[in-house]
Amino acid sequence: MSDITKIVKERYGKAALQVLNGSSASCCGPSSQASSCCGASPLVPGAVDPITANLYDDQQTGGLPAEAVLASLGCGNPTALAALNPGEVVLDLGSGGGIDVLLSARRGGPTGKAYGLDMTDEMLALARENQRKSGLENVEFLKGQIEEIPLPDHSVDVIISNCVINLSADKDRVLAEAFRVLKPGGRLAVSDVVVRGEMPLEIRRSVELWVGCLSGALDESVYIDKLSRAGFVDVSIEPTRVYRAEDAREFLNTQGIDIDTIAAQVDGKFFSGFIRATKPRA
Ligand SMILES: C[S@@+](CC[C@H](N)C(=O)[O-])C[C@H]1O[C@@H](n2cnc3c(N)ncnc32)[C@H](O)[C@@H]1O
Repeated sequence: MSDITKIVKERYGKAALQVLNGSSASCCGPSSQASSCCGASPLVPGAVDPITANLYDDQQTGGLPAEAVLASLGCGNPTALAALNPGEVVLDLGSGGGIDVLLSARRGGPTGKAYGLDMTDEMLALARENQRKSGLENVEFLKGQIEEIPLPDHSVDVIISNCVINLSADKDRVLAEAFRVLKPGGRLAVSDVVVRGEMPLEIRRSVELWVGCLSGALDESVYIDKLSRAGFVDVSIEPTRVYRAEDAREFLNTQGIDIDTIAAQVDGKFFSGFIRATKPRA
């Protein structure tokens, strides 16, 4: 396991424990401002986190356990954008507290199946507890890494993920594994943070830390290229939430960066995107 992976695991373990103890998930406490990983909220009490807030509407979250909603740490809503049909097998890479798995299980119905895959024991415990409370039976949470998916070849119809691939130190391997487990004609439909265009490296790293991309967000063109190299076709990236330097003001200030001087280099260059790709049938 890489050092980055160990740090990610530790952070999300703490976030899961916060929810198990009755608070909202946050992957950083107030004392760890220099290594924030979840937007503005830990730095500005009462502030709305521009990354994770308001991703799901009440109709979607109604009927889900409160803890599944509190544990939401994604940056998009893949279940709202992915085409999921009854009876399909769905796999969520980095399923956290399980919100997208439970929503997918509802969509897939009793003949479908929704798997969540996560490496963090505390998150798995939280997700399994949320499954129990939801009463959904067509759900299974698996322990493992997204770089080595513990499922057979050609066994999944749709892969979703919510703000996790950016955390991986080996994104090529994640995409190769996703391709392997998808059935021919299967779809990848994931939310992730993406970078568009050039900016000074130091500023890029600081904004990535703010967004939580510990091992670096991919540039849009690099993401498309990696998906194509893994074998996917019909690849596209659709921005769903575009970030501005202002969103990260408090965090960048703690990094000694004056956002007024760098805004033009950052605005519009980081976004949460919805990434679609298909495994060819032949
Ligand atoms: C940003 S949270 C997102 C959780 C969930 N998708 C959501 O929307 O709330 C990242 C989750 O991915 C898991 N994770 C990160 N890197 C992983 C990896 N390489 N393999 C398996 N799980 C990973 C973490 O344990 C954590 O639960």
